[in-house]
Amino acid sequence: MSRDSFGSRFGALVAMAGSAVGLGNLWRFPYLVGENGGAAFIIVYILLSFLICLPIFISEFVVGRRSQKNAYAAFRDLSGGSAWRWVGLFTIIVPLIVLSYYSVIGGWSVDYLLKSFTFSFTGGESQSAMATMFSDMVSSTWAPLLAHTGFLLTTMLIVVVGIKDGIEKFSKVMMPLLFVIVIAIAIYSVTLPGAKAGLDYLFNPDFSKINGEAIAAALGQAFFSLSLGFGTIMTYASYVDKKENIMFQSTATAVSDLMFALIAGTAIMPAVFAFGINPQSGPGLVFETLPYVFGQMPAGGFIAILFFLALLVAALTSSISMLEVAVAYLVEEKNLSRIGACVVLFVICWVVGAVCSLSFGPLSHVEIAGGNIFDFFDDLSSNILMTLGSLLTVLFVGWRLKKTDVYDEFTNGGAISRNAKIFGVLWILIRYVCPLAIIAIFISGLL
Ligand code: PHE
Repeated sequence: MSRDSFGSRFGALVAMAGSAVGLGNLWRFPYLVGENGGAAFIIVYILLSFLICLPIFISEFVVGRRSQKNAYAAFRDLSGGSAWRWVGLFTIIVPLIVLSYYSVIGGWSVDYLLKSFTFSFTGGESQSAMATMFSDMVSSTWAPLLAHTGFLLTTMLIVVVGIKDGIEKFSKVMMPLLFVIVIAIAIYSVTLPGAKAGLDYLFNPDFSKINGEAIAAALGQAFFSLSLGFGTIMTYASYVDKKENIMFQSTATAVSDLMFALIAGTAIMPAVFAFGINPQSGPGLVFETLPYVFGQMPAGGFIAILFFLALLVAALTSSISMLEVAVAYLVEEKNLSRIGACVVLFVICWVVGAVCSLSFGPLSHVEIAGGNIFDFFDDLSSNILMTLGSLLTVLFVGWRLKKTDVYDEFTNGGAISRNAKIFGVLWILIRYVCPLAIIAIFISGLL
C-alpha cells in the first residue's frame, strides 16, 4: 500500500500552520509579551524564531522529508541503524504526554463553548463569580473528564481518516476560519473605548526587562509555538511532496504562527484593559478574565462564542498533529491498522489525561516538584523535553547526517538555486549556532 501524503502545497502548509498555531499563541504569547517588555520582547522573540527556531524547523523538515518515514524510522534509517533511533522514539513519546494534558484544556474549551451557547457570559457577572465558575468546573470530576473524552475522540476521528482526507481537509477549512475569527475579534477589540492601554501593554518597548530569564522564556515559547522537538514537524514533513520548497514551507509556517500570535494579542489585551483588568496568565486569562470581559462588552455573548470556537479549533489542529506522530510509528513499525493505532493511543492518552484532569479536583493533594500533576507534565514537557528534543535534532542533522545529503534535500537536488545560495549560512546555524544557543539559553534560564 502506498503511503498517504498531503494532496497540495496549500494543504501541507495549513496543516503545518495548524500544528503551530494553538493554545500557545492564544494564552501564553500575549501574556508573556506584556510581562517581559512588550515590543522589546517581540523583537527578541522574532530574532530567536528566525535565527534559532527556523533552522531547527528546517532540520526536522529535512529529516522527515528525506526519510518519508515516521520519526523513529527516520532517525534509524538516516543514521544507518544506529542508536539515534532512540532519539526518534523519544520524539514520539513526548507529544503523547503533551497531547494528554492538552486534551484536558481542549476539553475545557468545549465546556466553555457550550457555556457560551447558553449565554452564560452576558449577565455582567462579577470577576470573582467567573473565577469560581472556572474553579468549580476544573475541580469537579465528571464534567471535565467528559469534555476531555470528547476532545480526544474528535482528535482521533480526524486522524483515523488519514492525512489527505482527514488532517489536510480539516485544516483547510478550519485554519482560514480561525484567522478570520481572530482578526474580527481583534478589530472589534481595538475599537473599544480604553483599548489603547492594552496596545501599550503589548507593544510599548521596555528593554530593561530583557534579561536571561526573558530570553529563555522567549525561546521556550518559540519552541512550543512552532511545535519543535516533538517529532511533529518531522512527521508532517514526511508527507510533503519532494517537489515542494522546504525553505518556503518552513518560513511560511513560522510567519503565520507569528502573525497569529500578534493578532491574538491584539484581540485579547485591548479588550482586557478596556475593562480595567490586569491580565492573568495561562488558563486564568482565557477562562476567568475573558469570560468576565465578554460579560461586560456589547455583543459579548456572540464574541464569546466566536472566541471559544477559535480556541477549540486552534487546539484541535494542534492535537491532531501530536497524535499523528505516534500513529505513523505504530502503523509503520508495529503493523497496526490506522484505526487500531488510534484506539491504542486514545486509551493511553485518555488515562494520562484523566489523571491530569483529576489533579485539579480529587487528586489535587498529589504534588510533584511543587505543583499538581498537570503542572508537572506541562513544565517537564514544554521546558525540558522539548528543548532536549530540539537540541538532539539539530545535532543529528548538523553532525550525523552528511552535509551533501542535507544540501540535496534542502535544495531539491540543487534545483532551487535560492536555497543553494543560503545553504552555507543555514549549515553554520544548524551545526554551531543553534546547539550552542540552546544550551546557553537553557542554562541562563536556570540561573
Ligand atoms: N504549537 C502548539 C501550540 O502553540 C502546540 C504543539 C506542540 C503542537 C507540539 C504540536 C506539537 O499550542
